[in-house]
Amino acid sequence: MTLYSRITGTGSYLPPRRVTNDDLARQLADRGIETSDQWIIERTGIRARHFAEPEVTSSDLALHACRHALEASGRSAQDVDLIIVATSTPDMVFPSSAAILQHKLGIAGCPAFDVQAVCSGFVYALTVADAMIRTGGAKCALVVGAEVFSRILDFNDRTTCVLFGDGAGAVVLEASDTPGILASDLHADGSHVGILCVPGNVSGGQVLGTPLLRMDGQAVFKLAVRVLEDAARATLAKAGKVDADIDWLIPHQANIRIMQGTAKKLKLPLDKLIVTVDEHGNTSAASIPLALDAAVRGGKVKKGDTLMLEGVGGGFTWGAVLLNL
Ligand code: UT7
Repeated sequence: MTLYSRITGTGSYLPPRRVTNDDLARQLADRGIETSDQWIIERTGIRARHFAEPEVTSSDLALHACRHALEASGRSAQDVDLIIVATSTPDMVFPSSAAILQHKLGIAGCPAFDVQAVCSGFVYALTVADAMIRTGGAKCALVVGAEVFSRILDFNDRTTCVLFGDGAGAVVLEASDTPGILASDLHADGSHVGILCVPGNVSGGQVLGTPLLRMDGQAVFKLAVRVLEDAARATLAKAGKVDADIDWLIPHQANIRIMQGTAKKLKLPLDKLIVTVDEHGNTSAASIPLALDAAVRGGKVKKGDTLMLEGVGGGFTWGAVLLNL
């Protein structure tokens, strides 16, 4: 009997249009809004982000990422028997972007659904896929984070529009006799809905409320630092591991200061922290699988390494997954 699930391939995709801080500062200046490359780098660590063209959807980005992940795992789309897409920027109200992605992959029949946990979406999706594999519900899953966050940014709000970007990352998660996913720890606290949300909704043929991102950055920052340490410690305890067992920390890429703060609390040297926020910005549910794939393809993260993945975001949601690659 199969007891475990394991990542057998990673993939990612960024839309070609790279927008630097200076590009964005010029764009905002046209609206009479002041920002600078220096402010953005100092406060966030972000240097550039990628924006998708208007006709490109999350499932389009996901398709590229999945093809790369399937190729890396030596699998074909026909081998896939479960698709989970973590996204807060789905193609449509319904059906799920996962179902649309399934069709674009040229397959049909297997379960496909979206997970909505904002920036924690990928660790939620990975945990669900792991549980389904371990209970015999699937053998070869595509677990994806895909976002076109540029669609929900308010380019009149300099406190948020400089932070986010578009992209997708994916892993192939397969049934295994040896442990891959070791433990996970997921949480949500809906009392914090107001500090990070897109409050609009579709009603009677109209969008009611604001369909643009609203964030109290400082409130999110303070909560994030605390819960990320708690989630990492809880996950390590469940797996019977300690800080020193972590080879690589791959946190949600929102702000370099939050990421470095978490690494310090876990007593990890900063060279064990995977950083892509500088080039990707915050891509919400896509940020962790994008960072993972960059680290694998860049030769840093190798088969057999122990990775701590951590997400935090709107909901408020947070969680962590510890795994052997
Ligand atoms: O993905 C979900 C998780 N999200 C996060 O983790 C985000 C968490 N929060 C953060 O990363 C940070 O709070 C921010 C990057 C959003 C903001 O950094 P901060 O150090 O908390 O800055 P602040 O909000 O205290 O703003 C400092 C100053 C303010 O001016 P005053 O009031 O001191 O005069 C802002 O108005 O910076 C100003 N400011 C800007 N200036 C230039 C805010 N945004 C900008 C900007 N350019 N884009």
